[in-house]
Amino acid sequence: MNIGIILAAGEGTRMKSKTPKVLHKLVGKKIIQYVLDACDRGNINKKVLILGHGKEMILENLKKEKFDWKEQPVGKEKPYGTGYAVMQAVDFIEDNSTVVILNGDVPLIEGDTLKKFIEFHKKNKNTASVLTADIDNPFGYGRIIRENNQIKGIVEEKDASKEEKTIQEINSGIYCFNGKELKDILGELDNDNSQNEYYITDGIKKVVEKGQKVGGYKISDIVQIKGVNNRIQLSELVKEEKLRINKKHMLNGVTLIDPNNTYIEKDVKIGIDTVIYPNTFLEGKTVIGEDNIIGPGTRIQSSKIGRNNEIENSKIIKSTLKDYNKIGPYAYIRPKCKIGSYVKIGDFVEIKNTSIGDNSKASHLAYLGDGEIGENVNVGCGVIFVNYDGKKKSKTIIKDGAFVGSNSNLVAPITINEGAYIACGSTITEEVEENALAIGRARQVTKINKGKDRYK
Ligand code: UD1
Ligand code: CA
Repeated sequence: MNIGIILAAGEGTRMKSKTPKVLHKLVGKKIIQYVLDACDRGNINKKVLILGHGKEMILENLKKEKFDWKEQPVGKEKPYGTGYAVMQAVDFIEDNSTVVILNGDVPLIEGDTLKKFIEFHKKNKNTASVLTADIDNPFGYGRIIRENNQIKGIVEEKDASKEEKTIQEINSGIYCFNGKELKDILGELDNDNSQNEYYITDGIKKVVEKGQKVGGYKISDIVQIKGVNNRIQLSELVKEEKLRINKKHMLNGVTLIDPNNTYIEKDVKIGIDTVIYPNTFLEGKTVIGEDNIIGPGTRIQSSKIGRNNEIENSKIIKSTLKDYNKIGPYAYIRPKCKIGSYVKIGDFVEIKNTSIGDNSKASHLAYLGDGEIGENVNVGCGVIFVNYDGKKKSKTIIKDGAFVGSNSNLVAPITINEGAYIACGSTITEEVEENALAIGRARQVTKINKGKDRYK
């Protein structure tokens, strides 16, 4: 049995944030979620989260996840430290289990690495194993102290001597322990260090002192063990994760004009020969087909996009588009829109909860809310669906082949039937029958010479 103990009770003071550190997002996904997912992939059957600072907010955000949790009492007078955090989980530790301790703020660890690390621990019959790496700038990390290549202990930055600070092999904060021995050691930790904290790292030294076996498992992919302590480190990991995702898409046949400036969340799927321009954000469970041109400056959230669409400088939320559409620049497609094929949604057109049939157009400056638009409909410039009377929302239906002249208001609930024609500048409040011409505005009055007399 592999048990994961994930430490996430710390204050995260260096983030200077009202939000707990582990809830900060990294390319759309919460830091703690990365760690939980890695455990699942790494065959860690049981997960115990240690929570303290921001406990309620963390639990609220992870509602749908499966894990156990234990509260670490936190406050000025309370003991503190990674060792104290692990002590809280003692009831979950079974004697003959392998306990994997993970830091909640080390997000890019991969499930596969955890698997290999656990295997290493078991195969070598270690009592404790530490996941380590050599890094160029080890500042801030605990350093691995070795003698004759054997791990003797871990020293924290704040407690390290000048000489120890030059050590480049660092502690990832990820360990394997045999359950029984870990329980013994937890009872022996003290807070005799510069921070007056209980360090789990001291547990490693204790194992050595008892003459039991400690192993170091060094990995070369250092991104996996980088921690997030402040927002600079967070941004560095965003950069890494973003590039990892983007490289996968490029290898799968998607062109990214500037992968450094394209943000694609992990669950997004993109078909081959789609070209993505910079400053584009593809988020949530968005699925994009083949041969689209997307961006620059586009944000698509949890939407389904077919093929051969052109979408420029626009925002699309929770909507569906079929094929060969031209969207933007500057279109705003809000949730629950269903757009067919060969549709044009032009500049400064906002649509919400509206379906649009094939070959229809709303090319400029319009608000289409709660509508049902058929095929081959032309919605002129400046058309407004007046969907809200101050109390309730109502529906606008425009049937196939209708033409709505510029600057018209369609006061919902309203139906414009097949082939009807709305004169520009109309305010339409009554149903317009098939093929009719409706004009809903005052007739023009022209007064001779009154223009010239206007300053008198
Ligand atoms: C820790 C390690 C360090 C290692 C580094 C890797 C110790 C003493 N130091 O340092 O050797 O190189 O991680 O990233 O373990 N936490 C609690 N309760 C507490 C204190 C911390 O749950 O009382 C949690 C934090 O929320 C965090 C994790 O433990 O998720 C690590 O704590 P942090 O303060 O970030 O430790 P580091 O200084 O990074
Ligand atoms: Ca840390």
